Amino acid sequence: MSDSVLDFALRAPKAELHMHIEGSLEPELAFALAQRNGIDFPFASVDALRAAYDFSNLQSFLDLYYACADVLRTEQDFHDLMLAYLRRAHADGVVRAEVMFDPQTHTARGIPMQVVFDGFLAGIAAGEKEYGISTGLILCFLRHLSEDECLATLEEAKPFMQHVLAFGLDSSEVGHPPSKFVRLYAACRALGKPVVAHAGEEGPPAFITEALDLLKVNRIDHGVRSVDDPAVLERVARERVPLTVCPLSNVRLCVFDDMRQHSLPKLLAAGACVTINSDDPAYFGGYLGDNIRAVQAAFNFDRTVWYQLARNSIDASFASTADKARWLATLDASLCAPGAASDSNGPLDE
Ligand code: ADE
Ligand code: ZN
Repeated sequence: MSDSVLDFALRAPKAELHMHIEGSLEPELAFALAQRNGIDFPFASVDALRAAYDFSNLQSFLDLYYACADVLRTEQDFHDLMLAYLRRAHADGVVRAEVMFDPQTHTARGIPMQVVFDGFLAGIAAGEKEYGISTGLILCFLRHLSEDECLATLEEAKPFMQHVLAFGLDSSEVGHPPSKFVRLYAACRALGKPVVAHAGEEGPPAFITEALDLLKVNRIDHGVRSVDDPAVLERVARERVPLTVCPLSNVRLCVFDDMRQHSLPKLLAAGACVTINSDDPAYFGGYLGDNIRAVQAAFNFDRTVWYQLARNSIDASFASTADKARWLATLDASLCAPGAASDSNGPLDE
């Protein structure tokens, strides 16, 4: 019965490695924050805002995403946003969250870097206390800005380096190749942090190659278009480069016409180190659990696939070796839990 496979997938301990915290701003919270901060929000109601979530490509989404982020003003706002996400993630079996944030979206509006960090860190501390969830921050640079502006942001963030897990690159991919940020990434790596970058979401497979060779990234965010170039796909699989795939996002942003057209099965068949993530859950139809349900409805994977996806997410995280070993042991134990062997949908039962 595929139901118990889905239960296993939902309950398995896992890491979420690709989620923009600003993209977890639910319309209800956006309206509450607008009211709390006395902001004249340009939507008549929660329903009117939700109705605007009809995207034709990445840019049409980003325009709304940056506009909504304007309601985030105070330390309390950033705290509330983080804690709301961690609550949802915990419900989906997430034991480790590596959360992306866009400081430039806030500092450009005059919000001090200190307010952003203090709010997020307070939310992370509350999430750890309430849900036992381990969380790290990935500081993302906006690739539609110049490299010099990004280098200035890196300088501004230097006093907070002990709170930065890794660096990333997001926003409009087309027209802004990884090669634009070689100096920035060298500076980030010199700080001893891992680096990731969005590549091969809307951009071509060549951007994945650039991110690997020029930026020397540890993971590729999305990477779903690697299937368009067999050599890139073969390399990503051979080198076990983790791909943080976001299925609902890709459908909502029209990277694929529908879930059944998604390249996920091809990526798995090629042996790529795929992980499943929610990207911007408030805008794209749901959190990690919703992504898992949508993928399972389209592809009816067996339990070995879901086990491997959960395992990949923990392996590909930047957590300590000790934490990874602990979560992997729990994952292995969950395979043998009562009821886990009761379905006949996976080779593990054979
Ligand atoms: N920022 C938030 N979500 C993003 C996405 N899916 N791609 C690029 N930048 C983003
Ligand atoms: Zn993303």
